[in-house]
Amino acid sequence: MQKIAVIAGDGIGQEVMPEGLRVLRAVAERFGLALRFDEFHFADCRYHEQHGQMMPDDWKDQIGGHDAIFFGAVGWPATVPDHVSLWGSLLKFRREFDQYVNLRPARLLPGVRSPLAGLQPGDIDMWIVRENTEGEYSSVGGRMYAGTEREIVLQETVMSRVGVDRVLRFAFELAASRPRARLTSATKSNGIAITMPYWDERVEAMAAQFPGVAVDKFHIDILCAHFVQRPQHFDVVVASNLFGDILSDLGPACTGTIAIAPSANLNPTREWPSLFEPVHGSAPDIAGKGIANPIGQIWAGAMMLDFLGHREAHNAVMAAIETVLADPAAPKTPDLGGRASCAELGEAIAKAATTVL
Ligand code: NAI
Ligand code: MG
Repeated sequence: MQKIAVIAGDGIGQEVMPEGLRVLRAVAERFGLALRFDEFHFADCRYHEQHGQMMPDDWKDQIGGHDAIFFGAVGWPATVPDHVSLWGSLLKFRREFDQYVNLRPARLLPGVRSPLAGLQPGDIDMWIVRENTEGEYSSVGGRMYAGTEREIVLQETVMSRVGVDRVLRFAFELAASRPRARLTSATKSNGIAITMPYWDERVEAMAAQFPGVAVDKFHIDILCAHFVQRPQHFDVVVASNLFGDILSDLGPACTGTIAIAPSANLNPTREWPSLFEPVHGSAPDIAGKGIANPIGQIWAGAMMLDFLGHREAHNAVMAAIETVLADPAAPKTPDLGGRASCAELGEAIAKAATTVL
């Protein structure tokens, strides 16, 4: 029995989560998977309104023993400032559950229009692996002489050998498992002349252990241009926290609507639960209307199945998403140019997931 902590969160999280669960339950039944879903009603802004904090003090005991966390979205800026809701929930999970890999696919799917001209489904098919615990996002630094002419502000990048090597190893293993076996590293060793040459050095050292993987590297600026001009080149892209943050929005953006993209925060050692969520947020502008696209949530569920060892069920969900997207007669939410509701699209994918393959 694998235990999954379910947290729907705020806004459209409440609407897309039931569809994510609908599809997971459908494939669990089809493939005989023993999954248990436990719902938790914290890490959302309503909880904050009632309790003055985002989560109960014992949150770690409540969900730390689960095999995975299936997450919707957090944030309701009308009542709780975004830095409070985010730092009080998702960032705690990332840090305390040592989710040191942020993994996002960028794939151009059938029936979805890329903002880039002339691309066919399949032309973009890459994984972006972002370091998720150190790097440029550090709390080392400070402000001196605040508010005076001499004001000085410092924030240090922190790269540890353990931290860099473990995310690189994950990325190389992923690349080695893919048909093209190509790994691209994001760097900026010309400008950031201490930490980035170190990053490059560790990439080279790791590459020596993976002779089957073709490795290249680009400075982050031209890499962004390549994402737009020749996304076909990329297979697995590995990057530090800041560069990965940028690339992991740019990659999915090149494939069309952000409503489709999923994201995983992984603790690959499996000491702690990993977290699977859509890339999008709580979308207050459309929340409550029943028109949110549930595919990001459903695809995040597929990633979770894969991580939990259920490759066949993962493949069925992905095939179901592609089948429904490619079928002009199938329901589509307004962001995809259709008029269907969130639940209608979710039902269509759940139905397809029980038959395709
Ligand atoms: P957002 O992703 O919630 O929305 C951006 C735009 O995309 C909106 O116009 C929205 O309607 C549209 N959109 C998003 N998801 C959609 C879906 N599934 N179907 C159709 N349209 C969709 O980003 P925004 O507006 O910047 O942030 C809103 C709140 O969400 C904030 O509180 C923010 O902090 C939070 N947020 C939370 C994230 C998380 O839980 N990981 C990630 C991003 C934002
Ligand atoms: Mg981001």
